[in-house]
Amino acid sequence: MKFLIINGVNLNMTGMREKGVYGSQTLEQINAEISAYAQANGDSVDFYQSNIEGEICGKIQSCFNANYDGIVLNAGAYTHYSYAIHDAIRCITTPVVEVHMSNVHAREEFRHTSVIAPACKGVVAGFGKNSYVLAIEGLKR
Ligand code: DQA
Repeated sequence: MKFLIINGVNLNMTGMREKGVYGSQTLEQINAEISAYAQANGDSVDFYQSNIEGEICGKIQSCFNANYDGIVLNAGAYTHYSYAIHDAIRCITTPVVEVHMSNVHAREEFRHTSVIAPACKGVVAGFGKNSYVLAIEGLKR
């Protein structure tokens, strides 16, 4: 199966920012591990990262005619207020799983709300880099 992993705002700083929350591995290192995991299971994964809300919406829209079996989306802080990303997810039929490395429900109150979750197939949060792999596994069921 073929998956697209989209990382949103500030996820490019993973490994450098708030290491106690997000770990010390860079996004590139995490992506390499996800890629290796997927390949070992006969799957393939493409990666995309942007800090710009409209670019993330454009990438999601571009999946309208793409043959992905699922999208794993860590929108970062956009999760909590981007109705534009919510609507972009509703533009396509490809299932999207919302992902967070941290357990957002154990953090500040503003992180307890997701405006994109109602447009998603499911949500995975709190398992660090493994949240991405768990989302892929969820999409395969
Ligand atoms: C995050 C959680 C968000 O609240 C935060 O804004 C992020 C990362 C996570 O992966 O835990 O940037 O999505």
